[in-house]
Amino acid sequence: MSLQQNIKNPEGKLGILTPGMGAVSTTFMAGVIATNKGLGQPFGSISQMGRIRLGKRTENREPLVKDFVPLASLDDIVFGGWDIFEDNAYEAALHAGVLEKGLLDKVKDELSAITPMPAVFDPNYVKRLHGEYVKKASSKMDLAKAVMDDIDRFKTENSCSRMLMIWTASTEVYIESAAVHQTIENFEKGLLNNDPDISPSMIYAYAALKSGIPYINGAPNLTNDVPAIIQLANQLNIPIAGKDFKTGQTLMKTILAPGLKARLLGIDGWFSTNILGNRDGEVLDDAGSFKTKEVSKLSVLDSVLEPEKYPDLYKEMYHKVRINYYPPKGDDKESWDNIDIFGWLGYKMQIKINFLCKDSILAAPVVLDLALFMDLAQRAGMKGIQEWLSFYFKSPQTKEGLNPIHDIFLQKIKFENTLRHLMGEELITHLGLDYYEE
Ligand SMILES: NC(=O)c1ccc[n+]([C@@H]2O[C@H](COP(=O)([O-])OP(=O)(O)OC[C@H]3O[C@@H](n4cnc5c(N)ncnc54)[C@H](O)[C@@H]3O)[C@@H](O)[C@H]2O)c1
Repeated sequence: MSLQQNIKNPEGKLGILTPGMGAVSTTFMAGVIATNKGLGQPFGSISQMGRIRLGKRTENREPLVKDFVPLASLDDIVFGGWDIFEDNAYEAALHAGVLEKGLLDKVKDELSAITPMPAVFDPNYVKRLHGEYVKKASSKMDLAKAVMDDIDRFKTENSCSRMLMIWTASTEVYIESAAVHQTIENFEKGLLNNDPDISPSMIYAYAALKSGIPYINGAPNLTNDVPAIIQLANQLNIPIAGKDFKTGQTLMKTILAPGLKARLLGIDGWFSTNILGNRDGEVLDDAGSFKTKEVSKLSVLDSVLEPEKYPDLYKEMYHKVRINYYPPKGDDKESWDNIDIFGWLGYKMQIKINFLCKDSILAAPVVLDLALFMDLAQRAGMKGIQEWLSFYFKSPQTKEGLNPIHDIFLQKIKFENTLRHLMGEELITHLGLDYYEE
């Protein structure tokens, strides 16, 4: 039976709500509006430009992904968000300095109309920012209710048929899963008692799920990686996904490392350093927020290289990641990777990568794709952790006890096979022996 009959059509408006209206969020919003006006093309977005092979190679069927699966159309998206600063999306985009003023002025009316709602914010979780535009309430439960009211109001005012939330706010300080995160009951008690282990991002995630909308975690925050939020998503039949958009240096790592491993080239060390000067860089200059990011970035290589299975090649590898805040760079991040590798008989070689990248330009299509595919997942009745979207994340969320897949090519196969499965198409194994049968 074809599963596609069970996927609801994407009728009506899709509201995409972003806690955090900074560089990533406004670059995404401006890009979608610019694309709708024919001012640019959404390069980097699989949902808009990607193709997917179906059936045998000899069939030559390779439709656009958006013609294969029923995705919301870009004209049907409405944007909303929260921030601790009152700037509208046009002002915030100018401040972020990613897109040129000339382009922003062409979408000024649409961007200026996107004004943030007051944020749920706790300076203990993001130490470098001090914003005034924040909600005040006597308990964390009341803050969650205020976010639910915002979601409701936004839905009515913008006549949305569906909505979702995607975290594009600053990285919070590192915390570990505690007793309050273990069950829905503990978590709700914690909201009522203002438990300090409940972060603002968890309050947004709780509010999203209670409002029946998917939650996507674009930062390395713990947020939805705790049993209480996973249980809630499963109980309410809502998809969740995370975490930390895969862009920049980590994107390069997950492209390169699987190739080195495929050819069994050893690695002595991988030193990665970054300088960046945007607000994200400023927040990451704080040790607590950096620790959250560092854990997310470090996990990638071990999982791709599997040193426990290939001790002679990777056991001794020294992996170091540094991020330095350097204001003159603005959003133009510069990263250096020095990779010490070895081959046949242990002979040493080096690879140097100097990536002059624009983080938000790489992140914007990821935000768009995640939003559209999560909306698809919701309409297809998928609930809980959406591991098939790990293609887009630095630290893919998986079921407890299940090792995440970091190799971007395996992630892509998984992603495409999930789309084929959803649409009742044959999965592709790449075996191909049948082509040679006489
Ligand atoms: N740019 C990338 O390639 C990339 C990749 C992976 C992850 N990320 C993550 O995405 C997030 C956004 O990055 P950015 O470059 O847009 O940063 P940014 O500093 O430009 O924007 C973040 C915005 O969030 C706001 N904010 C902070 N706490 C908030 C809260 N509790 N509620 C609502 N708003 C809040 C800030 O005021 C700011 O406007 C960061 O966590 C970053 O680590 C970015």
